[in-house]
Amino acid sequence: MVISHLSLTAFRNYSRLEQDFSDGVTILYGDNAQGKTNLLESIYYLATTRSPYAETDQQIINWDVNDPEEPIVVARLVATVESGPTTPPDHAESETTATTKTIELRLIRELKNGGVSFRREAVIDRRKVRLMDLLGELRVVLFLPTDLELITGAPAARRRYLDIMMCQADGVYLRNLSAYNKILDQRNAALKTCAETGRGKEVINLLSDRLAETAAEIFCRRARFMHDLAQETSIIHYENLTGGKETIKLSYLPRLTKEKIGRGANANNAELQKSADWLNEHSDSVEAVNQKYLEILQLTLDSDLASGVTQAGPHRDDWRFWVDGRHLAHFGSRGQQRTAMLALKIAEIKRLTKEAGDPPILLLDEVASELDEHRRLLLLDQISNSGQALLTTTDLSFFSSAFLNESSTIQVSNGLLTNLEPSV
Ligand SMILES: Nc1ncnc2c1ncn2[C@@H]1O[C@H](COP(=O)(O)OP(=O)(O)OP(=O)(O)O)[C@@H](O)[C@H]1O
Ligand SMILES: [Mg+2]
Repeated sequence: MVISHLSLTAFRNYSRLEQDFSDGVTILYGDNAQGKTNLLESIYYLATTRSPYAETDQQIINWDVNDPEEPIVVARLVATVESGPTTPPDHAESETTATTKTIELRLIRELKNGGVSFRREAVIDRRKVRLMDLLGELRVVLFLPTDLELITGAPAARRRYLDIMMCQADGVYLRNLSAYNKILDQRNAALKTCAETGRGKEVINLLSDRLAETAAEIFCRRARFMHDLAQETSIIHYENLTGGKETIKLSYLPRLTKEKIGRGANANNAELQKSADWLNEHSDSVEAVNQKYLEILQLTLDSDLASGVTQAGPHRDDWRFWVDGRHLAHFGSRGQQRTAMLALKIAEIKRLTKEAGDPPILLLDEVASELDEHRRLLLLDQISNSGQALLTTTDLSFFSSAFLNESSTIQVSNGLLTNLEPSV
């Protein structure tokens, strides 16, 4: 998969950008605060409809046009995306042909009842589509200097990471997740009403049934995806990154139990591990998982009513790393955590390539400077052998002249891009 052209209007410090990209590696090179990260952010935003940095859409619209007096401000992100032709390894006969699509995201500011709000519109090949239809059209894997926080930080970020990774590859997962979140909101509202008025038990039962149908698909698909990803991650970690010295285990912790997932260093998650093992054995049987989750909803109903929120379910799942049997977030060194993250990302590229039959676009923000020589060479080697990659740097000396010669280099200066000659 390749972005051959990107067009930005009023996005961050790009008031207007029209830029062609070649396949292979492109290095975005420039001083601090010139727009390197903003460019990667725009591609990630188009791919996932989310920004890894901004909390509100207001932040990503160019300041200069972001005048509160203007009734309508439209930020536009448009990418020409080419995919294939490739033959997915698992479907030898169904050869796919090359396709070119234009995908677009518009951010429209509206003045409503004296306040400002933003509406987003998604367009594929000039046809308006739902926002979630954009997912999968442009598949990306993002590397950030802050990725380590995934290991040490809160579970919500890990779930988000897992969801974005899976939604890009699995349309059924995406639809179930979207339905699940809506039904979950309805069930939580019904719990509160019932707690206040004592009425609406039947509504809760009905919503529990519907919640369980979508939850079962999500649990099963997460379990299967994480099982494959974990295998791939541990092989890369063992063979390529630690020279056979350390073993890593990535485990998926489904909240398919009435027990909370403990986070502290001494958390005893035996009950949780039991439900993870159970799910692994039953991940091909959506019906069995549906039943099991319904039983748990029954068990937790009283405390759900008391708290006004649904406590068990995929919205409380987590995943974590173990190195030589110890929880990496609590007992691992920074270097060990970094290595685990790198293994996970390389595995993610492999998984997405396998699922879609076409490598995703890699976006790497300042990653070269974060890694030691050995890991940097390994990562750059991986990048060179994948599809298209865009990486940012303030310092070209991180890269060998062979790597630079094989890459295109673009200078980023105050929101303007200039192609540099290969000899730089
Ligand atoms: N909404 C916005 N409108 C205009 N400019 C913005 C907006 N949001 C951020 N900027 C500016 O864009 C500039 C470039 O930011 P960016 O993060 O892309 O820099 P960078 O080239 O990655 O720098 P660094 O090497 O320090 O990471 C910054 O000066 C930032 O203040
Ligand atoms: Mg930056």
